[in-house]
This record gives sequence, C-alpha cells and structure tokens, in this order.
Amino acid sequence: MKSGHDYRNKLILAPMVRVGTLPMRLLALEYGADLVYTEEIIDWKLLRAERLTNDVLGTIDYIDTTDGTVVFRTCAEERGKVILQIGTASVERAVAVAKMVQEDVAAIDVNMGCPKDFSIKGGMGVALLYDLPRAKAILEGLVSSVTIPVTCKIRLLPDLDETVQLAKELQSTGISAIGVHGRTKTERPRDPVNENAIAQVANALHIPVIANGGSQSITRRHDVLQFARRCGTTSAMVARAAEWNCSLFRADGPLPLDEVIQRYIRLSVRYDNSPSNTKYCVQMMLRSLQETPIGRRLLDSQTMQQICDIWELGEYCRETQLKYHHAGIKGRRACRPRTLSIENQPEEANESGQLACKKQCLERDNQNQTEAKPLIEENICFIRSNFPSDNNLPKTKLYTYATRNALPRAQYEVQQKDKLFRATIQFAGNRYSSSFWEKNKRFAEQAAALVCLLHLGVEERSELIANGAMLPERDSTSRKEASGDVKSFKIPLTPSEVNGELSVNEKGFTNGAKSVVNGVQT
Ligand SMILES: Cc1cc2nc3c(=O)[nH]c(=O)nc-3n(C[C@H](O)[C@H](O)[C@H](O)COP(=O)(O)O)c2cc1C
Repeated sequence: MKSGHDYRNKLILAPMVRVGTLPMRLLALEYGADLVYTEEIIDWKLLRAERLTNDVLGTIDYIDTTDGTVVFRTCAEERGKVILQIGTASVERAVAVAKMVQEDVAAIDVNMGCPKDFSIKGGMGVALLYDLPRAKAILEGLVSSVTIPVTCKIRLLPDLDETVQLAKELQSTGISAIGVHGRTKTERPRDPVNENAIAQVANALHIPVIANGGSQSITRRHDVLQFARRCGTTSAMVARAAEWNCSLFRADGPLPLDEVIQRYIRLSVRYDNSPSNTKYCVQMMLRSLQETPIGRRLLDSQTMQQICDIWELGEYCRETQLKYHHAGIKGRRACRPRTLSIENQPEEANESGQLACKKQCLERDNQNQTEAKPLIEENICFIRSNFPSDNNLPKTKLYTYATRNALPRAQYEVQQKDKLFRATIQFAGNRYSSSFWEKNKRFAEQAAALVCLLHLGVEERSELIANGAMLPERDSTSRKEASGDVKSFKIPLTPSEVNGELSVNEKGFTNGAKSVVNGVQT
C-alpha cells in the first residue's frame, strides 16, 4: 500500500453530494471521524477549475473558471484526512484530476456505486461495475500516476460470487482499500443492508474493506463499530446517520441536535460556505422538525445572517463577515466573465492584478452600447424564492408599471460571456443593469428589472438587502472602480450587507507568482 494511509480501524464520513462540503467534513472530524470523504465531484468540473489560495479564509479553493463557483474548498484542519471522491469514466481525466489535487488531499476515491441516471449515462458510477476493463484501467492509471492512495466505492452485484470476483479484480489494480455499500444498484436506501455480502467480500480480499450502508441501525459511535464487526471489517463509513446528526462519531455519545446545528453553522460562517448549501444541510438535519416554527423560519431564510439569527449566532455572523469584508473578501456577485482564468485573460490584463482587466471589460461592454445614456447599475441578483407568485416577478411588475403610466415597454438586451449572462434594460429614457452576472438569461433579465424597479421607487433598497438580493458596496469608490460609467450610491455598511457567499481575497488570490482578483460562490 502507498504511504500515508491505513484504512484499518477507521470511522469515516461517507461521500455525500451537497452534504460533504468543508463545514460538514470539519464537523465530522471534530466529533471523532478519522477520515472524511468529499462529495462526488465530476472529473471535468475539477479540470476546468483553477487552484487558488484564499488568503482571507486560509483555504485552498478550486474555482470553476467559467462562473466563479467553488468546486472544492479545503483547509489545513483536514489535511491528511480528506479523501476526494471523483466521478469519472475516463482514465485520462481521472489521472489529470488526481495529479492536480494530490498535494491537497489524502487520497482519491472513484465512485463506482452511484445508480443515478446522469452517472450511468456518462459511463460513471455503477456503470463501471458493468465495464470492468474500464474500471480497472482507471484505477491502474491512478495508482501508477499519483503518490497518494487510490480507492473505490462499489455496490453489490445481484450475484454474491460475482461481487466477490469483481472486488478481487479491482483489488488487483493496486488500490489501497475498497468501500462496499451493501446494496445493489436497484435497492433503495430503506431496503435492508446486506451485511453478510460485505463480510464475504471482506473475507476474500487482503486490502481493507470499508463497510457501508448501515445508517438505519446507527445513532452512535458504538453502532458504527458494531456494524463494522457484523460486516467482518474494522472500518465503516457512514452517510445518512451522519447527515442527520454528525456528532454520532463522538466517543462520549451524540450531542443534542441544536448544539450540532449551531456548531455546523459556525463552521459554515468561518469558511464562508454558501447560504444555500448551509440551509440545505441544516434542513437535512432537521428532517421532520422542518414543520416546526424554527424549521419554517429556516425555510424562509435566504442569507447566512438570517440562518444564523435563528440559532442565536447573528452576532458571530456579523462580526466574522465584517472582518472578512474588511480583509477584502468578495462573493460570487463580484465574478466577471474571463477574469478568473489566467489562460482566458484578455491580452491587456497584466500581472499587477485583474482589476484593471475587469474594469476594461466592463468599460468596453458599456462602450458597445449604442446610446450615450449612462448605465444605472446595482449589484442585485435575482433569487427565485423571493417571488412565490409568477404575477409578482420583477419583469411582470415592470410591465404593469409601464402600462399604468402609459410608457413604452422595457427593452431587454442580454450579453453572454462564457456561461454567464447580464441584461441591460432600456426604460423611460434610462438604461439599467445589474453588475451581477447570472447563470441564465431569464434570471439576468429579472435582475435588471429589479434594478430598474428600485430606481423607479417600486422596490425598496432595505427590502432587497433584507431578502438577500442585494449587497451594498463597501464604499462608492470601489463601485466606480469596478463598474466604470456608473451612477453610484454610497450605502452605509449594514449587518445584512455581508450575506455569507463564498468569497475570495480582493487583494488577490495567490496563484504561484500571479495574483488574480475574482469572486466566487457555490
Ligand atoms: C445525501 C446523500 C448524498 C450521497 N452522495 C454520494 C456521493 O456523492 N458518492 C457516493 O459514493 N455515495 C453517495 N451517497 C451514498 C452514501 O455514500 C452511502 O453509500 C449510502 O447512503 C449508504 O450508506 P448509509 O446507510 O450510511 O446512508 C449519498 C447518500 C446520501 C444520503
């Protein structure tokens, strides 16, 4: 086995999409997990990401260069314990990913158990169990290319002997361990886990087997050990039971859910996790309690501040976010197309920083407009859940406003760059746009309509800030710098200004010798 890891006698946080982001992994480690898996990340997502050091948070971030989202964030606290799980169907892509991340993760795991359609159609997940030559080629490619351990996670085949044979074949590639989820691809999570089958596989292999699938019988550490014992293994990985109450890993027994949620939210604030991911994970913890008053408050929340207020962490959130804010942190709202990837930078961008490039891009955009009218710009994003009724959408409101005031209808023009969209509206002799680049055209138009409605007095600035659609700028200077020809409004710094979106260092991510500026969000 390669250096660095022993997979024996380990209690492990299993890979979980959306759940296994940095705050949850750190929580599991704090409570006593020995190793933690990331959520599955598809190979090409990592391949189009750029590795950046986030000086404000003290993290390493892999940022999607097309839209500024964080694909993977890690930090020193989980070094040597975090296992990156990839979804892949390609030796070349798997190897390229592994080489890219091997300094930052303890091991690489290949997901060979995902039964979801999108995985199977792409030849990934459980499809690999039915394409053994490819599965073996991927593992062999990884084992021979990287210095860290390589593992895979499988499900059972309908036939036990075939499962054992398959596991032996996979073992022959030189992998360091194998995770076995004791269900077949058609079995559902509520079906009983086949502990005997896991035991048979474990018995036939000489590498460690990590038992998985026992959450229905797990609420505490002792249960995990018992599950492993029944499966004939010394290690087990836990998914759902940890998703519900991660403190099950504690030697002293699990903690009350409120305490766990509080700690989780603290870590989310500390590592600037996105409000949407944080909210999702807390909802998963609340489960049936979602119908309680607290659950309903959570459902209504949009910003990190609102989530924190529910668990009496409002002050901590405000203080931390203000600290980050002053350290120059930026959110996804600051993301501009072609300002992240060094390769994609326009020629005029120079090493002294991308702010110049960002400014030039926007100025050029503005010059391309035929009219001389100044662009009225605000950093407003469109959050769909703020508008429960279709009759109340910003574009509809603007249409109604125009009709009532006998004005011509608004004209929309949408720019697309990379995979991001921004709309400009011409209405009543003015031009309006959001400085936030949305990920789809419809949202971009709605965001621009919100800017217009704000300036018409139909929408309230305070309301937009409260519902998370808007972040006031820190000061008018930075607004002018970022936007070029823009009417600016000095907004006082308010507690809700900083809503917990994933961020980077305004002074610059350090990336080797280069320094770049951008904003990110999950
Ligand atoms: C929310 C959620 C997300 C999951 N995402 C992944 C994943 O990304 N990769 C993976 O191999 N398995 C994933 N799984 C499956 C779990 O890792 C695990 O195999 C399964 O839930 C059975 O273990 P348990 O009984 O401890 O829940 C996920 C499960 C859940 C509940």
